[in-house]
Amino acid sequence: MIELELIPNHVAFICDGNGRWAERRGLPRSFGHKKGAEVVKNLIRQCSDLGIKHLTLYLFSTENWTRSDAEVQYLIQSFSKFLQESRNIWTKQNIRVNHIGIFDKLPDELAEEINKTSNETARCKGLNLNLALNYGGRKAVVQATNAIIADIENKQLKPEEIKEDLISHYMNGKLDIPNPDIIIRTSGEKRLSNFLLWESKDSQMFFPDVLFPDFKEEHLSKIIDDWRN
Ligand code: IPE
Ligand code: IPE
Ligand code: MG
Repeated sequence: MIELELIPNHVAFICDGNGRWAERRGLPRSFGHKKGAEVVKNLIRQCSDLGIKHLTLYLFSTENWTRSDAEVQYLIQSFSKFLQESRNIWTKQNIRVNHIGIFDKLPDELAEEINKTSNETARCKGLNLNLALNYGGRKAVVQATNAIIADIENKQLKPEEIKEDLISHYMNGKLDIPNPDIIIRTSGEKRLSNFLLWESKDSQMFFPDVLFPDFKEEHLSKIIDDWRN
């Protein structure tokens, strides 16, 4: 008899350690980001193959704009390129892509790639891939609060209807992403760094001592095993 193994519904990643990976090799930080992008690619495929329904990747925080101009520019360009190169593959793999975070402040080029990617994958019914780009957990709460206030003002909502579930619904542009079962931060740092502050209420946290560019399929398999047990 085949035993069906329990699979987490939502896995979220704080992809950390790219810079250190490069610096330890005497390379510019951008090399770490490049290697990190390959890991992201493999991770998405692995989660899709495993039948995980939601994968959220924290790739750029609202705090990350304070990095050097060169690093910020490199990251923005590589996100754009990554989306451009991947969206056909994702459509074929039935992967739907959503953006979470502050969309308005993204550079035009990246905003355009995000729009194209989410439009082209909108009908996909497999893995939901949430890309946290210019994401901040506190800003997400502020955005949800403003959306609630707007709906109260235009009479779509009554103040007495504000409950935890309603706030959850207003988070992240009403995407109704379920709370993550698992949050993984690579690189050994044990911080949330403003990630999914509202949604992490019951999440199990894992802090593998591996830099993101070194994160392999077996690391995720081991974490899922631990979570299951
Ligand atoms: C994660 O790696 C990528 C981003 C935050 C964009 P880091 O760039 O934070 O790598 P470390 O923490 O400096 O090693
Ligand atoms: C958190 O990593 C954000 C992302 C991985 C996108 P950082 O490396 O930016 O966070 P801190 O500054 O170490 O908390
Ligand atoms: Mg870091």
